[in-house]
Amino acid sequence: MAPHRNVELKARDPEPERTLAAALAHGAADQGVLEQRDTYFAAREGRLKLREERGRPAQLIAYARADEAAARTSAYHLVDVPDPAVAAAALEAALGVTVVVAKRRRLLLWEGVRIHLDEVDGLGSWVELEAVAAPGSDLRAEHETVARLRNVLGIADAHVVARGYAAMLLDAGAATDRLVALARTAMQRAYAPYSRFHVGAALRDEAGALHCGPNVENGAYPQGQCAEASAIGALVAAGGTAIREVAVMADTELIVPCGGCRQRLAEFAGPDTPIHLCGPEGVRRTVTLAELLPLAFDLGAAG
Ligand code: THU
Repeated sequence: MAPHRNVELKARDPEPERTLAAALAHGAADQGVLEQRDTYFAAREGRLKLREERGRPAQLIAYARADEAAARTSAYHLVDVPDPAVAAAALEAALGVTVVVAKRRRLLLWEGVRIHLDEVDGLGSWVELEAVAAPGSDLRAEHETVARLRNVLGIADAHVVARGYAAMLLDAGAATDRLVALARTAMQRAYAPYSRFHVGAALRDEAGALHCGPNVENGAYPQGQCAEASAIGALVAAGGTAIREVAVMADTELIVPCGGCRQRLAEFAGPDTPIHLCGPEGVRRTVTLAELLPLAFDLGAAG
């Protein structure tokens, strides 16, 4: 079966009441307000979320990461969940939660376009336009309809974003506590019988998934491996390609990644990527990669 395709536009909406009035004046049909809550679990493969919507059965949705070819060609799995509270508790205990996106969505319909006026907890007001494409469409008509509606609603270029709510919440720190908890678990499992210096590192990747690793030492001392290197291996093995946030933990005054690990992080992280330097109780200081590694070696710049 061919996958569903949408032409979508998402934008910050500083004046939701004005947008609503403009949509209604233009003939959009008001479908009322939906209350939705998406809980994202830390699945090892792909994405897994529980969608709860007031007045509807909850559903568990498993799908491929957006950056994988599978996401474009194969559908997703939908499972009805009769008892979402228990399902959420079981999944949280087994996998952990990455982020929760809770929103109130006023849905309007206009010429086959879904207009979403969203109030998202922690993110404010947003407008989304979503034209569901007809099978076999070259999408030109859908793009035109969305562009026309966008004009009518006065959506400014500066307000348009390409990212999802979950990603925005994560970049605003929604997963930091969980990242720190993972670094703590990794630290507690460190194999460091020679130095007795236990380190845990945790990373958030571009898809929101969290990965961690401890330092692993070796009787032939130079063969030991830092926590950051272990965590990077876990991220790559799980399909991650970029680091968006880092937590490093040790029971010392202030743990900072060693020089080699700064370079390892720089392979996958950008200069603004936050790095939380943690003690067992939590974050002690947050720095960026650029602060830790100014003038980083870059093969691209070198060649
Ligand atoms: N270590 C890390 O795991 N990460 C760092 O950034 C600094 C050092 C480990 C390596 C070794 O197992 C122990 O700490 C003592 O150097």
